[in-house]
Amino acid sequence: MPQKATVGFKNRDIISIHDFSKDEIQHILKVAKVYKDRPHPGLLKGTILASLFFEPSTRTRFSFESAMERLGGSVISLADAKSSSSSKGESLSDSIRIVEKYCDVIVMRHPLEGAARLAAEISKNPVINGGDGANQHPTQTFLDLFSIQETQKKLSGLHVALVGDLKYGRTTHSLAYALALFGAKLYFVAPQSLQMPDHIMRNLKKIKAKYSFHTHPDQLMSKLDIFYATRIQRERFPDPLEYEKVEGIYVITNKLLKKVKKNFRILHPLPRVNEINYEVDDTPYAYYFEQANNGLYVRQALLALIMGKAS
Ligand code: CP
Repeated sequence: MPQKATVGFKNRDIISIHDFSKDEIQHILKVAKVYKDRPHPGLLKGTILASLFFEPSTRTRFSFESAMERLGGSVISLADAKSSSSSKGESLSDSIRIVEKYCDVIVMRHPLEGAARLAAEISKNPVINGGDGANQHPTQTFLDLFSIQETQKKLSGLHVALVGDLKYGRTTHSLAYALALFGAKLYFVAPQSLQMPDHIMRNLKKIKAKYSFHTHPDQLMSKLDIFYATRIQRERFPDPLEYEKVEGIYVITNKLLKKVKKNFRILHPLPRVNEINYEVDDTPYAYYFEQANNGLYVRQALLALIMGKAS
């Protein structure tokens, strides 16, 4: 197993939010703000990102690729597993052993939980988890936190509802942990069958997270700072009939927003299916498109930090 010579962020893998302290998270957000305020063309000239997506993606893949290009680097890309030798039966570990020779850093999305950790153990180059099954999506969490900080001017002590598919929604697994580090009060809103998995709850209890469980957001709306909506992850349901039972269970409409606070904002990792009515897009509470835009700056910061070009 190759040992990576990590110094601070340099050469570091980004696999799980659990690998980052509160101070490190704050540092990433600070660097991201620098990139949002001012472009840094040429910073990563000569650096190659391998972008390996074994599952569909729009935001994560394009924003990582755009981030690298905007910093002057270049990208080799796998956007469809069918076009790689994995379709001929090549193992993930063999693929990583080859791809690492063609690049300086790898971002990978894979349907299997733990695939990113495995890739990181094999690769001499840093590996960034762009989502592994229903497990973790740490870079989404950094951009979610960046967006929360941008809208609330702070991260500590917020009231945040995580709503929808908390069982399969990997973004909520990473985000709940990070928000708990910052002392948030978390409201888990989901049908019983899609509540937070036990292993996530165990980790939250270890850090003394404050949380409560709900089946509907109605009674919470007036105290919330952030409403984090998620899509019901149809592709991860073993039984399509189970999906049909919960499809469209939570839909945000303007009516639901009648009693919210002025600073209240709606975030969503996107894509949305029917969780947010289009009428909500025109309210001051909608922040999901700005949130997706912030992915570009947060991912520039991560690439620059792990390539040792930012400190
Ligand atoms: N938020 C997110 O992970 O979106 P994509 O699936 O489009 O990458």
